[in-house]
Amino acid sequence: MDEIVYGDRLSSGEYRALREAVGWKALSERQIDGTLYKGLFLITARYGGRCAGMTRLVGDGAYFFLLADVIVHPDYQGRGIGKRMVTSALEFVRACLRDGESASVNMMAAKSKEPFYEKLGFTKRPDDTFGAGMSMLLKK
Ligand SMILES: CC(C)(COP(=O)(O)OP(=O)(O)OC[C@H]1O[C@@H](n2cnc3c(N)ncnc32)[C@H](O)[C@@H]1OP(=O)(O)O)[C@@H](O)C(=O)NCCC(=O)NCCS
Repeated sequence: MDEIVYGDRLSSGEYRALREAVGWKALSERQIDGTLYKGLFLITARYGGRCAGMTRLVGDGAYFFLLADVIVHPDYQGRGIGKRMVTSALEFVRACLRDGESASVNMMAAKSKEPFYEKLGFTKRPDDTFGAGMSMLLKK
């Protein structure tokens, strides 16, 4: 039986296919290139060569990090792949820090996926300290 193999290569076609498999909107070719090549960190999961999942980090590499595109193909969900990829992303953030420093790691949970992230240490907003996370979809 094939094992899950983790790496850091993802073609634009694979990225497009993963987004489509989980029902996310299609991006333009130019946006796909920007997302894949201008991030801080990218991890992929492969099963028998087929791309089973990905996630990535964008940010300044010093304090602010945004976890984006946590995607596990529906055929491979529930096998610990998402957890392993997010854990690797958090290890990357930790490796960016020096002793005594901390980083702000942010993400926007898809509906009903909050418990997955809470298990990994994220807390829901708003809470006693922070207001709600906010977002905007800008269109041109
Ligand atoms: C959310 C997603 C990334 C989870 O990936 P996954 O590989 O299926 O999850 P894992 O197998 O690594 O699960 C890790 C843990 O989270 C739990 N979990 C996963 N999805 C969950 C959910 N929706 N609700 C509650 N718990 C969940 C698992 O039961 C497991 O718990 P355990 O560690 O106690 O055994 C995946 O379902 C996915 O890609 N969904 C579609 C795209 C999407 O919505 N992504 C999130 C964008 S914010």
